[in-house]
Amino acid sequence: MAEKSIMRLDKLISSQRSDLSRSAVRELCKKGKVTVDGVIEKKCDAKVDSASAVVCVNGEPVTYKKHIYIMLNKPQGVVCSTRDGLSPTVLSLLPPELIRQGLFPAGRLDKDTEGFVLITDDGDFAHRILSPKSHVEKRYFVRLEKPYDESYSSRFESGITLKTGEECMSAQFIGSDNKTECTVILHEGMFHQVKKMFEALGNRVIYLKRTHIGNLALDENLPLGGCLELMHKDIEKIASLFDGGF
Ligand code: URA
Repeated sequence: MAEKSIMRLDKLISSQRSDLSRSAVRELCKKGKVTVDGVIEKKCDAKVDSASAVVCVNGEPVTYKKHIYIMLNKPQGVVCSTRDGLSPTVLSLLPPELIRQGLFPAGRLDKDTEGFVLITDDGDFAHRILSPKSHVEKRYFVRLEKPYDESYSSRFESGITLKTGEECMSAQFIGSDNKTECTVILHEGMFHQVKKMFEALGNRVIYLKRTHIGNLALDENLPLGGCLELMHKDIEKIASLFDGGF
């Protein structure tokens, strides 16, 4: 079914520009500061086609995107929620030009975990990457307190039972030469799952970083706390795993 692309001018602008409320847009329209396809539009409730109209505010184009997808390299000490009284949230790290209403982290990392957090305002997409049914892998780099042993790989594969009694789905364990660093690939996201899996094996995670969501890797050049807007081709690396694609 074709998506509806006709919308009110003030709604289109304020949905893309967090600094402009609907009433601010109304004022700008009255002052003749808004153009649609090069023509001044004074009516803020004018209907425009968001898929094709060239809308400018003070001469600056406003590109309409229905949804936004952001890769953040989360540092330790930051929480994956939209609000927190005590600690900074992942949303507080976003630059003003990426902020818009309805953003939230699609999946949580613990406060002391670093790495790839996807922030979006697309609830349907978030639901699909988090559902185990979609088979979107999450890959983690792990540093352990004690060296692992040869049994870990088969124990991850056959499904670890946590100390709480919960059964984990089959997961992948990939060792390294130094025996305290490894990679874990999960297809689900239980609370503190990686830490609890190693706890069940008598070990302890001392550093944890998410490096991939699906086939999309955390950008190596992104500093801790840095973020970038993902392009359609990036999102497809995650969403190609869904039935029916993106
Ligand atoms: N598993 C954990 O234990 N913590 C995270 O933050 C993510 C996965």
